[in-house]
Amino acid sequence: MFKGEAMLRSLHAKFGPIITLNIGARPFISMADRNLCHQALIRNGALYADRPEALPIDKIISRNQLAILYSRCGPTWRLLRRNLTAEILNPSSVKSYSHARNWVVQILHNRLESQAKSGRPVFVMEHFRYAMFCLLVLMCFGDKLDENQIKKIEEVEHQLLVNLQKFSILNFCPRVTKIVLRKRWEELFRLLKCQEDVLIPFIRERKKAKEKRSRGPNMEDSKDESVVSYVDTLLDLHLPDENRKLNELEIVSLSSEFLSAGTDTTTTALQWIMANLVKYPHIQEKLFMEIKEVVRDGEEKIKEDDLKQIPYLKAIIIEALRRHPPFHFMFPHAVTEDVVVGEYVIPKEAAIVINAAEMGVGSKGLGGSHVIQS
Ligand code: HEM
Repeated sequence: MFKGEAMLRSLHAKFGPIITLNIGARPFISMADRNLCHQALIRNGALYADRPEALPIDKIISRNQLAILYSRCGPTWRLLRRNLTAEILNPSSVKSYSHARNWVVQILHNRLESQAKSGRPVFVMEHFRYAMFCLLVLMCFGDKLDENQIKKIEEVEHQLLVNLQKFSILNFCPRVTKIVLRKRWEELFRLLKCQEDVLIPFIRERKKAKEKRSRGPNMEDSKDESVVSYVDTLLDLHLPDENRKLNELEIVSLSSEFLSAGTDTTTTALQWIMANLVKYPHIQEKLFMEIKEVVRDGEEKIKEDDLKQIPYLKAIIIEALRRHPPFHFMFPHAVTEDVVVGEYVIPKEAAIVINAAEMGVGSKGLGGSHVIQS
């Protein structure tokens, strides 16, 4: 458990399920009781759907809050969120990426096998992460990319992610830090420029392919025709507030969000699932028996269509997500107007942080974390 998580947990134990910390310009409210969280997120979801004003660095990285996670509640957020869920993450679209998934499973298999053969310890997490990243890149930019191109994208996204902590100090008094921490500001803009230089050509490729398709079908492109990438859907959107299309920088921001939001969550979930299968051999055995019933003799892989016949696998995944949610804390929410919850008042300007780890297991639970605890 990280220091901040432990500190909040002990504050909750002392002061109850809602605590307010006055840090910086706005109150920071932490909610750690699953009944309160249910009341907020499920029963009053629309009231809690807003996000607090983004911090200066988050605003710059998200190209003026043009990322779903940072968008204020309103028509633009609804449009972007509906686009992601209805056009990309719905079951039939997910099915259309099976070609990409097969390719990525092969990459994962090869990497695990070659590292195992080398005799060195196998760092499973690193390979899961890379495989998930490859899959998300293909879903984002189309499945005509090769591993070299994916590695270029990975490098630039990784650089931004690992330096994020270092840039957070720039949120305080940007006017002053622009003078005293000039080099750090320059580095932030340099990394953003690198991100644009790497991602924009892929966005332009999708734009070109889309224009070509609109001129008529081409047999050479028939494989690509059937797969709609996330960028394709973004190119079609019209921002309702401003009645215009998204510009390239905004598509860079949304693509980067897609890659980062999808990679660490799924990788952490996979890591916990595998750790639990190792820790509880009887569960592993039960799953193995169920898989054996579905996989026909001589076959090595489970077909995606057969997954429906392995309900125990789904149960294992859901249980791992409940016990070890990849986010200990959810990204801050805000209320659209002052709200009273039980005996507490939640002011409009507050950043509300929901403790997802406590939600799934109650106050005596196991808690979640980004790292496996020994
Ligand atoms: C195991 C997998 C995943 C878990 C556990 C997970 C969890 C979450 C959670 C807890 C939130 C915050 C919701 C809120 O604040 O109300 C969230 C938001 C989000 N997730 Fe995921 N996520 C997963 C996979 C993905 C994937 C694969 C993508 C995209 C490719 C994705 C994209 C997003 C986006 C864009 C948001 C912001 C939604 C909004 O603000 O309206 N997530 N996710």
